Amino acid sequence: MSAETLIAGGRVVSAGWSGEADVLVHDGRILAIGRNLPASAGAHRIDATGARVMPGFVDAHTHLDMPFADFATGDDWDTGTAAALAGGTTTVVDMAIQPEGASLADTLQIWNEKARGRARVDYGFHPVITTPSDAVLAEIASLPDAGIATVKVFMAYRGTSLYLDDEALIEVFSACGRTGVLPLVHAENGSIIDVLVHRALKEGHVDPSWHALTRPPELEAEAVHRAIRLAEIAGTPIMIVHVSSAAALDEVRRAQARGVDVLAETCPQYLAFQRADLDRANFEGAKYVCSPPLREPADQQALWAGMADRTLGLFSSDHCPFHFAGQKERGRGDFSLIPNGIVGIEERPSVLWTLGVTTGRLSEERFVDLVATGSARAHGLLPTKGSIQPGADADLVIWDPDATITVTNANRHGAIDHTPYEGMTLRGVASTVLVRGEVAYADGAVTAKPGSGRFVRRIARPPRVA
Ligand code: URP
Ligand code: ZN
Ligand code: ZN
Repeated sequence: MSAETLIAGGRVVSAGWSGEADVLVHDGRILAIGRNLPASAGAHRIDATGARVMPGFVDAHTHLDMPFADFATGDDWDTGTAAALAGGTTTVVDMAIQPEGASLADTLQIWNEKARGRARVDYGFHPVITTPSDAVLAEIASLPDAGIATVKVFMAYRGTSLYLDDEALIEVFSACGRTGVLPLVHAENGSIIDVLVHRALKEGHVDPSWHALTRPPELEAEAVHRAIRLAEIAGTPIMIVHVSSAAALDEVRRAQARGVDVLAETCPQYLAFQRADLDRANFEGAKYVCSPPLREPADQQALWAGMADRTLGLFSSDHCPFHFAGQKERGRGDFSLIPNGIVGIEERPSVLWTLGVTTGRLSEERFVDLVATGSARAHGLLPTKGSIQPGADADLVIWDPDATITVTNANRHGAIDHTPYEGMTLRGVASTVLVRGEVAYADGAVTAKPGSGRFVRRIARPPRVA
């Protein structure tokens, strides 16, 4: 293909402005944006008339090929990134879980090997700290030089290696404060959830609906509050991932009002589904088990308000895909054995366009901020990724704002045996997607080859404390 591509006749939408403009791409980067741009005679031309032209979307919360029990999430870096492209996502940042006893360097090496040769989009990693030994805490300082700007910690899942207690949290947060690495936190009170789960099982409550009943919003709000206070003491900014409830969001809002540097993310499943989905017959409710759990309509309204007033600045998929057969089904007879997680890497942008833009809740610019630019900024990917400006990587989405698709598992591009979005009609779809100037997806087909994706070095924040 020519080194030059002209995307002509579309409406460019960025997080800050929109207008009719062509986009000229040269050698994998955006060269110019403007009207009637001249292109060389051999340039590849893409007609974007009637479409939006947006920066490639950034999904900074995925779980690809993640070990769980004696299996792994059902999308690897090949199928998961194929699905990402079909939704318009050109960069993912995945949770790289530290195996017990491994260093963070080992962890990154393991995740690099999973991604290399398979990824079809560009990628980064959040090391998930499971063993905060002195050596691992010291190693956090080396992450920025390795192109890593974040780490992830879990306050939930007590009884697994993911869970960290308060003493461990403050040590990780303090190391983050000293180094500028941003901690991402799964905030639910894992020990009290454990008590409620054991109590429910003892009383004979085994159905998927009990997943939500044993993880009430109060336990999310309490953990959000505690995480923020610990981060304040440690002197680090913090990001709360997958905020699901009005109560948790209130804690974020209050902290932000006090001037605390707290970023917050929500995910499509908390807008598209509700707690009642866990009651679906024939154990289908297991398809809707994720943590924090699905909530009530009032929580959804609060999340929309949070996106509108910018309390919530990030919108990621938390794509954590488990098959129904043999995986979700393990929890028949004991809801606590249902693997937690839901798909969304492909659906995320269309869900937000359908429920947010077409309803008038979000402007098109705010949509771009939520699915691309805001994440790129928070995760250290700007200006290379997530923005449409000269010099940026030519990761671009030609978006048909009016096209609809009715989701069924046969038209999904991942490998999972079901989709919780089955039967849902989404408006707004990616018609063509470019990664570094190359067409990676067009007219329903993924054209990027496995292994075409590259590791992206991210830029960490400056340290807060000496
Ligand atoms: O249910 C979820 N969210 N599973 C993925 C792991 C996590 O908690 O992020
Ligand atoms: Zn989580
Ligand atoms: Zn997650």
